[in-house]
This record gives sequence, structure tokens and C-alpha cells, in this order.
Amino acid sequence: MTSVASSTVVHTRAPGKINVFLAVGDLQDDGYHELATAYQAVSLYEDVRARHADGFSVRFTSTTAGIDLSGVPVDDSNLAIKAARLLAAATGYAGGVALTIDKNVPVAGGMGGGSADAAATLLACDTLWNTGQSRDELLRLGAQLGADVPFALMGGTAVGTGRGDELSPALAQGQFQWVLALADFGLSTPAVYRELDEHRIRHLADINPVRQPRVDSGVLQALRAGDPARLADVMHNDLQAPALHLEPGLGAVLELGEQNGALAGVVSGSGPTVAFLAPDLDGALELQIALSAAKLAVVRATGPVHGARLLAD
Ligand code: C5P
Repeated sequence: MTSVASSTVVHTRAPGKINVFLAVGDLQDDGYHELATAYQAVSLYEDVRARHADGFSVRFTSTTAGIDLSGVPVDDSNLAIKAARLLAAATGYAGGVALTIDKNVPVAGGMGGGSADAAATLLACDTLWNTGQSRDELLRLGAQLGADVPFALMGGTAVGTGRGDELSPALAQGQFQWVLALADFGLSTPAVYRELDEHRIRHLADINPVRQPRVDSGVLQALRAGDPARLADVMHNDLQAPALHLEPGLGAVLELGEQNGALAGVVSGSGPTVAFLAPDLDGALELQIALSAAKLAVVRATGPVHGARLLAD
């Protein structure tokens, strides 16, 4: 017999992110690097629908052109399944969940898509199972799943330190217009960090052995002023050079955007998505057309937007 409870569907949504500034410090003993980053949540979303089940399962759909679902695992290595299992273990919940995720954040693209899945899943399961976790408890569980998961829960604009998971909200005004060039390949985050370490060992170790990363104060001022031209001047990502080293073709993408009206472009997180900041909506539309004409897969997004939230439907 199908009970009313088993037909319940909980729908949550969490955003992807752009690191408008990312400074990487030294490798720590735990295998992570110390970071100082400014995150902005943008209007590309992962939509999670959760239903009661005995076991744990996930399946993916997408309506966004350029999103390739073929490489996304659906076994226990999937971050959404890990999130559900972690919440069940932390709360003593004995059942499972069937998850369906509508994916609109590029896969392995440096925009925190997997982290958004984990964030939206934590919220969906906590609601479905009635496990009553506080926001702080969800943030703490999120940090165990990945460095970007707490930010996907929190959203908006924030500075991240530590592994990137120690967050403080940043003031931001207005809406920034982004145009994102999606690659038809992914980049492995650990591989990009490894490339950075190897480069530093080759070139910098003697000059600057201890780096204390910090977010440039100009970045916070530009965000606070809602001024895209100022932000464009100070956007920076320490992972851009190693990402370009692994995928030299990204250099031409950056150049093409800047020739077609972008104020600046930056590799997003560990890449390979390239995020271009446009002066306004008209500029973003023109840039989108120019990049599409060059046969790139392009999506537009605005930021900042909300973190993970429950939708009523
Ligand atoms: O936390 P997350 O699972 O997203 O990190 C993936 C990988 O990226 C880590 O295993 C690590 O190799 C690298 N990383 C890092 N320093 C950070 C964040 C991520 O070295 N602060």
C-alpha cells in the first residue's frame, strides 16, 4: 500500500558559485591548501527532489545545453548520496532517500555543482526526514563533505578562509552580470592544485616559502559598491595559471571574451569554466552572442543569489 508520506516530494535548490578572487596558500598536513576567497553565488541552480525510500539512490536530468551528464557517478561516490548518508548517520535516521537532481551547473567545471548538490540534498533530507537540524549543524555537516558546500548552503557573497569553508558574509550591492563559457571537458580539482604546487616547487619555493593568503581589500570595496568595472580590475584566481597550463586552449577563450566586451574574464575555481564579467545586461547579451558565434557553449547568470532553500511545489 502506498502511504501519503511515501508520496511526499521535497524540492530544494542550491546555486553554483564563481570565485571572484581566490588566493591559494601552502599545502597543509590534511592535504588541503589554505585559501582566501571571495565567493559569489550565481543564478545557475541544482534542483533536488527527494522522496522516501528504503535505500539511497540518485538520478540526474538537465535542460541546459552544454551540460554533459555522462561522467556523473550515481553510486555511493556521488556527493549527494554522501550528503544523505552523512545526515542519516548524524541523526540516527534509519531510512533512505530517492533523489532526482536537475543539473544546470557545469559538471567538473569549477563552479561548485557537486557542492550545490550536497547542500540542496542536506536541506531536502532534513526536511523530508524531519530530522530538525539547525543551520549551523547543516553548515558543519556540509564542511565534512567538501570545502565549497557551506557556501552553497549560505549563498550571497562571502569571504571564505581556511579550506574555503570558514565563511563570513560580505556586503554586496546590485546585480553583477556574468557570461560563462563552458568547456566540453572537465578538470579535476586535485590535479589543478597539484599543478600549482609543482609550479611553486619549480619556481617559487626559495623566494616565498610561506604564503598567508588574503582577499584584496579592493575586491570587497568593488562588491560593496556594486561596481563591475572596479571588480574587473581586481578579479584574480591563483588556480588560473595551473588550469591554463593543463588546458592551454582556455587562453584563447579568455582573449575572445575580452575582445568582445567583457570587462574581465577569470577561470572559475579550478576551471575549466571561464567566467566573464559584463558591464551590464546589454553587454552580457552581446558577449553571449559573440561567444556563441565562435561555437562556444555559453550561459548567462547573475549574482549574488540565495543559498540553498526549500521550494514549495
Ligand atoms: O573540498 P573538495 O572536495 O571540493 O576538494 C577537492 C580537492 O581539492 C581536495 O581533495 C584537494 O585536493 C583540493 N583542495 C585543496 N585545498 C582546498 C580545497 C580543495 O587542496 N582548500
